[in-house]
Amino acid sequence: MESFLIKGGVPLHGEVAISGSKNAALPIMAATLLTDEPCILRRVPDLSDTRFMVKILESLGATARFEGGTLTIHARKIKGYADYDLVRKMRGSICIAGPLLARLKRARISLPGGCIIGARPINLHLKGFAALGAKIKIEGGYVEASVRKLTGNSVFLGGRAGPTVLGTANVMMAATLGEGVTVIESAACEPEVVDLANFLRAMGANIAGAGSPTITITGVAKLHGAEHEVIPDRIEAATFLIAAGATDGEVTLKGARGDHLRAVIDKLSEAGVAVERRGANLVARRKSRLKPADVTTMPYAGFPTDVQAQMMSLLALAPGISIITERIFESRFMHVSELARLGADIEIEGPSAIVKGGRPLSGAPVMASDLRASAALVIAALAAKGSTQVTRIYHLDRGYEGMDLKLRKLGARIERTEEQGA
Ligand code: EPU
Repeated sequence: MESFLIKGGVPLHGEVAISGSKNAALPIMAATLLTDEPCILRRVPDLSDTRFMVKILESLGATARFEGGTLTIHARKIKGYADYDLVRKMRGSICIAGPLLARLKRARISLPGGCIIGARPINLHLKGFAALGAKIKIEGGYVEASVRKLTGNSVFLGGRAGPTVLGTANVMMAATLGEGVTVIESAACEPEVVDLANFLRAMGANIAGAGSPTITITGVAKLHGAEHEVIPDRIEAATFLIAAGATDGEVTLKGARGDHLRAVIDKLSEAGVAVERRGANLVARRKSRLKPADVTTMPYAGFPTDVQAQMMSLLALAPGISIITERIFESRFMHVSELARLGADIEIEGPSAIVKGGRPLSGAPVMASDLRASAALVIAALAAKGSTQVTRIYHLDRGYEGMDLKLRKLGARIERTEEQGA
């Protein structure tokens, strides 16, 4: 297993290019199953998660070529069965269910199971499929959905924590080849849903309202191959903006979408970090000393749960009390005890973390527990005095393309090493 060795205390300076979005790419890759013609996807980030999705698509019968960020997928003939061993490793793989059901009228997929950040049920995905006429059976750890003909309907996809991103994606994809009109109410408004809708439209789908809580899909008989460029990763971008503020540096983000980052930019400003647009770039630097801020994670356009951990590292450096409330995933606080090892003073009270910021951080060995928690530990380590070893960085490699290389270019002292004894 690999780890990062980080010598902290160096302000980050320079330019960083933002990669394509992981969470946009995964459902878009799944959508290529909807046609028997080849699709070409550009700006696909080279990550263990996207490589894994390629494996899943290949296991279903598709052929794929992935070179220099361009992925060509051809799902000429496919089967509708996805094995436990493949699905359990990546929860996002559930988004193959909608396309399989639409194309083959049958999908048998292992239930993804829980994950470290929360329970992650798929009841809303199944509710949507059932509304389109599918029969759902759960047996032996697998969910089996089958239908003679998918038929348009109106379905409300709001859950206990608000809309569901991949649930919206799944139902939208299934409805593209259904008969008649499907209306998804309380749909997720995330930019990744809009990007998927744009790709589906390029394939010939008839979709209106993506990006709003009401999405209308009018079924078509067939979808064709298409080309698409994936949107830049707003979570990677947010991570670099925060790292710039945490290290008191100045970082220019190339290719980031400021319009996808409004809630993050607003909170950063409150915390003393200015983000300015300069031409096509975003530039982040401190505008004052760091200040506390209260953050509550919410569905888009609110503050993203995927940036909560990284923001906590920044606020641990801001003198005063910040309250961070997690409203999307109940157990997404695994980073708190690791940040404490670096000297942060944070207490968990129900869904909130109370950050008593401003204590000096100093390097220590810490362990990554999930993707965004790993990024939070890297940010804290960059700001801490001394050396930090972050172990289990395979979590980070799932969602950040060449994070160590990008940080090194910005002046960080970061090395990828083989863990001792591993
Ligand atoms: N939920 C239900 N029932 C469902 C589905 C979801 O109750 O059927 C609940 C969840 O338990 C959660 C909330 O609804 O409380 C939102 O979950 P959502 O379904 O939106 O999450 P997701 O679609 O499975 C995607 C991202 C996550 C990101 C969330 C929220 C992908 C591949 N994953 O997951 O990304 O945190 O949306 O924005 O797009 C990450 O990149 O680190 C990551 C975890």
